[in-house]
Amino acid sequence: MTYAFTTPIYYVNAAPHLGTAYTTIAADCVARYQRMNGNKVAFVTGMDEHGQKVADTAKEHDMNPQEWCDSMEPAFRDEWDRLKITYTDFVRTTEERQTRSVQKFWQDLYDKGYLYKGAYEGWYCVHEETYYAESDLDKNEDGLYVCPECGRPVQESTGEENWFFKLSEFQDKLLDYYEKHPDFIRPEIRRNEVVSFVKSGLKDLSISRSTFDWGVPLPFDDGHVAYVWADALLAYLTGIGYPDNEKEFNECWPMQYHFVGKDIIRFHCVIWPAMLMAAGLPQPKCIFGHGFLLTKGEKMSKSKGNAVKPEDMVRVFGLDAYRYYFMSDVQFGVDGSISLERMIQVYNADLANTWGNLVSRVFNMTNKYFDGKVPAKSDDSPMKDIVDGLYEKYNEAMDKVDFTAAIKEVLALAERVNHYVEESAPWTLAKEGKNEELSQVMYNMLESIRVIALYMLPFMPETSEIVLKSLKVDATSINTSWGELEPGTQIDMCEPLFPRLKEDEIDFNVE
Ligand code: MSP
Repeated sequence: MTYAFTTPIYYVNAAPHLGTAYTTIAADCVARYQRMNGNKVAFVTGMDEHGQKVADTAKEHDMNPQEWCDSMEPAFRDEWDRLKITYTDFVRTTEERQTRSVQKFWQDLYDKGYLYKGAYEGWYCVHEETYYAESDLDKNEDGLYVCPECGRPVQESTGEENWFFKLSEFQDKLLDYYEKHPDFIRPEIRRNEVVSFVKSGLKDLSISRSTFDWGVPLPFDDGHVAYVWADALLAYLTGIGYPDNEKEFNECWPMQYHFVGKDIIRFHCVIWPAMLMAAGLPQPKCIFGHGFLLTKGEKMSKSKGNAVKPEDMVRVFGLDAYRYYFMSDVQFGVDGSISLERMIQVYNADLANTWGNLVSRVFNMTNKYFDGKVPAKSDDSPMKDIVDGLYEKYNEAMDKVDFTAAIKEVLALAERVNHYVEESAPWTLAKEGKNEELSQVMYNMLESIRVIALYMLPFMPETSEIVLKSLKVDATSINTSWGELEPGTQIDMCEPLFPRLKEDEIDFNVE
């Protein structure tokens, strides 16, 4: 079985920002770890190109929707390349294979009797691409109905002919499924939210639009295109071979994870599972709804003007420190306030002073005392027990996507080795001519560095690769048993991994 998972398929009305990059980086850490752990990985991401929001954005730019979407593809692909994202498929919802997926899926549900035609009376928020009942809406100071999510005015629909999916039929089946599969929706807080939403009653869902044509045509009725969510969710299947490649599809489905932000959990935890039930397909193992990145207590978003570009972050901190900060300091699953001060603090404490400092001290000492060669093996090490027990703890945390916990374990080892440098004082051993002891101590440090670099690799691929290359170690598998580092290996010196940062030397602000 392939270890398969997804990020959301992002709207192309704007380029990626820190919020969208956050999910994608998290998914990449999973991808890298699972590969090192010996699993085949399918990591699906992509662009959500249909719907009114994208059509309106194209118009604002004097382009037709397809031209607009094509022009946005490099913004996404280049960003993911810059962040070293190792996705295995990038689905554009305007691709022909996606059209085939959408049409096959909904034709199947039509044939099974899950669809009917009706008139839609209600409200629609284009920005959220979401239908609302009047009772869901807020009012602004002019007395106008606005979207409860984004606060923008909503459009009234008076009887648009739509195709409806019999979502209401799935209420009990969904509740039953949630109950029997406590890990289906994580974290717990999202699960509770979803359960109480479903308990409050489900309405049938409009899955087509007939007032505009920027979407996948429904095969059983001319003039209707799929509602953007009835299209985008199916990109998850398209990215693993549906409907053409049954073998690939069966290897990857059901997936391990859909990683999504908490704002889109209803689509993923209610509509999507009901669609899958109707189609007779198994459910994904877990839908994980992470929190928002907040700046000054507000959700960071392009439209609020407080969105930071990932490239600025990379320019100031370097790719690895950027990835590390978000994965270690923002607990995956809850909202996290981010600030420049905190980033600098974490960078200096964990990376410059702990991990980077350890590597440069130990490499320099190896150079000085052993001409840069790894000395003889040592089995007598205060770090051996920690290393022996680390895989289980780390693996468990990574399986649960608790990146903060996984990193904490590895950092604790780096801290331990830093203390060990002080305790064992190799400079004194060298001065006193205690060569055997010196050799043992240096091996212990170098071997610990190898192990730390391997465990850090999913989060910080660039620096771990530098360290592992210096140690002439294969970076493709998580071979962390004590004693793998070969004596006699000539170590290549490397530049300091994380030079210390000073706040007043940094020329940008996340506030
Ligand atoms: N196109 C839909 C998803 C379809 S999936 C079948 C969509 N796209 S989106 O471009 O708006 O992307 C959103 C993802 O980015 C969501 O998971 C959302 O939660 C996440 N984020 C957007 N701003 C965010 C923050 N400030 N913080 C964290 N994640 C945020 O929705």
